[in-house]
Amino acid sequence: MMSQKLVDAFNDQIAFEIHSALIYKAMQAYFAAEDFPGMANWMDVQYQEELGHAEKMFNFVCDAAGRVKMLPMEEPRNEYSSPLEVFQTALTHEQLVTSRISNLMELAQQEKNHAAVICLQWFITEQVEEEANASLIIKKLKMVEGDGRGLLMIDQELAQRVFVPIATA
Ligand SMILES: [Fe+2]
Ligand SMILES: [Fe+2]
Repeated sequence: MMSQKLVDAFNDQIAFEIHSALIYKAMQAYFAAEDFPGMANWMDVQYQEELGHAEKMFNFVCDAAGRVKMLPMEEPRNEYSSPLEVFQTALTHEQLVTSRISNLMELAQQEKNHAAVICLQWFITEQVEEEANASLIIKKLKMVEGDGRGLLMIDQELAQRVFVPIATA
């Protein structure tokens, strides 16, 4: 059983994961419009990953006999001025997610809800990867400093990213 406080916190994070998905889908639209198909692909994979995160938490709450409640989300940002700005925004967003997951973990620990702690451990590890992914791309984008050929190479590299579904049950 989960306390209502913990259920509410999970519901908040489920909404935030879906909000994250929308942010990345909007970034995909920006890259598609700017003719960076590889970066658009990377964002589409990220979008699917975020939906998977929401799904994983959704199923956990249901399995733990909590009542999932879907919450409204604000409009995601749709306008950007450069690929670097997009990935910097993505990193800042992931840092925010990391702090939210960490707060959720602290609550689960306070309540000695071991099942929730184990569920959240996966997310803690995932966030390390999320921040590392965005940081590496930012590094590369800074290296090429907006040079067309360099951007094209990064775009081709990001075209290789493939969505691998996570275990959500
Ligand atoms: Fe996520
Ligand atoms: Fe994420």
